[in-house]
Amino acid sequence: MQGLISLFRNLFLITAFLLGYSSSLRLGETCSNSANNCDSGLTCGSCPADGNTRLRCTRSQPIIPTSRVRGLPFNRYTWLTTHNSYARTGSTSGTGSDLLAPTNQEDSITDQLRNGVRGLMLDMYDFNNDIWLCHSFGGRCFNITAFQPAINVLREIQVFLEGNPTEIVTIFIEDYVTSSQGLTRVFNASGLSQYWFPLSQMPRNGEDWPTVDDMVRRNQRLVVFTSARSKESSEQIAYEWNYVVENQYGDGGMINGSCPSRSESSPMNTSSRSLVLMNYFPTNPNTSEACVDNSAGLVRMMNTCYEAAGRRWPNFIAVDFYERSDGGGSPEAVDEANGHLTCGCDSIAYCRVNATFGTCDVPVLSPPPPAGSSPGETAQNPSSDSPISRQLQTHCSIWTILTLLLLCV
Ligand SMILES: *[C@@H]1O[C@H](CO)[C@@H](O)[C@H](O)[C@H]1NC(C)=O
Ligand SMILES: *[C@@H]1O[C@H](CO)[C@@H](O)[C@H](O)[C@H]1NC(C)=O
Ligand SMILES: *[C@@H]1O[C@H](CO)[C@@H](O)[C@H](O)[C@H]1NC(C)=O
Ligand SMILES: *[C@@H]1O[C@H](CO)[C@@H](O)[C@H](O)[C@H]1NC(C)=O
Ligand SMILES: *[C@@H]1O[C@H](CO)[C@@H](O)[C@H](O)[C@H]1NC(C)=O
Ligand SMILES: *[C@@H]1O[C@H](CO)[C@@H](O)[C@H](O)[C@H]1NC(C)=O
Repeated sequence: MQGLISLFRNLFLITAFLLGYSSSLRLGETCSNSANNCDSGLTCGSCPADGNTRLRCTRSQPIIPTSRVRGLPFNRYTWLTTHNSYARTGSTSGTGSDLLAPTNQEDSITDQLRNGVRGLMLDMYDFNNDIWLCHSFGGRCFNITAFQPAINVLREIQVFLEGNPTEIVTIFIEDYVTSSQGLTRVFNASGLSQYWFPLSQMPRNGEDWPTVDDMVRRNQRLVVFTSARSKESSEQIAYEWNYVVENQYGDGGMINGSCPSRSESSPMNTSSRSLVLMNYFPTNPNTSEACVDNSAGLVRMMNTCYEAAGRRWPNFIAVDFYERSDGGGSPEAVDEANGHLTCGCDSIAYCRVNATFGTCDVPVLSPPPPAGSSPGETAQNPSSDSPISRQLQTHCSIWTILTLLLLCV
């Protein structure tokens, strides 16, 4: 009797395991948009703009670099950054008005942070007696361009930092706030001030930043930059271009082979600025084109900007629709930059624990299934990795295990 009970229990566990296993798909496998059946860290998407119509699992998360290579200065890592992080497709305005502003991302700040986004670009305005996240229209916020009060998003960041005590987040404010102490008040109210990285500790002459370990130990895990120079003396908020160089954003930053600095920034190769930010998104955000932009072009521009920045890899890689790609996407670009920065390898996935800089473990990769084939073609020619053969394998395994179990009893 006891044997029978444990047999059923084992059968139940094994079946549950196999079903769970067969329902989650790996990188590159054909998926279904509606079922969201990719492994965690992957999202189901295609890239028709590149001719790749097959829905397949693509990466939505970079490797968290500090989980692989610990203890380096903050400026020795690359952080995935979302442009207009708050401008989410499908949002309605917090004013109740229709929203007539373009959008740049497709998930919430909380989900972005969960996916490993660590740089957030937020446009802040005085509006409705408060600070709001809004798109610029002549430097002013209107009901039809107003997303939501900034405090909502700042609280999401606060919850994330509280729940993830070793993570560091950077905010880039496009700052239209003129009310006295307006930013300080909203950061105070959000509970984020306790994580503030102090201005006095930011290197001003090209030195290394404190290590991420120091920042975590002191709980100085929120780095904030503003585009308004005056805030540095009035509110102790770092004026971005005293610490960061940044290339041109929009269409002007997407010209193959050129990486000019944006007008507010010192030239890209200014070595007294310890941090390098790379923008790579078009002037008019475009969901269907984003998968193309976030792939080969992004990596190509990273190499162009590396040279332009005096052979420095970017610390922040800012994109629209960060989950869209035709392959590895922005997560892959971030992993590559982190590999170069932290261990001298082509990806942080190749870093070896405690190894000398430039000693890498490059795996022998089996190529993912071709991107261009339609589901029909896949069905006729199941490769050993296709979901169909996977299901067959799963069923075989169930019968094999059943037989073995029966033999044992
Ligand atoms: C903007 O929205 C507010 C509600 O938040 C409303 O009171 C106001 O009338 C609206 N203004 C315009 C110009 O529609
Ligand atoms: C923000 O909080 C700090 C520390 O609690 C306090 O000293 C400061 O007066 C506050 N500032 C504003 C504008 O609320
Ligand atoms: C970009 O420029 C490189 C040379 O710098 C060239 O090899 C490549 O084909 C160009 N790509 C596109 C898409 O224009
Ligand atoms: C920086 O780049 C400019 C071209 O943009 C070049 O003229 C200058 O010599 C470079 N400076 C350094 C220090 O490399
Ligand atoms: C996005 O780009 C495509 C061309 O690839 C174009 O047809 C479409 O109009 C663009 N959409 C927007 C919103 O600009
Ligand atoms: C790597 O170095 C650290 C610090 O010296 C040490 O604590 C750790 O055990 C090392 N890890 C391995 C796998 O050698």
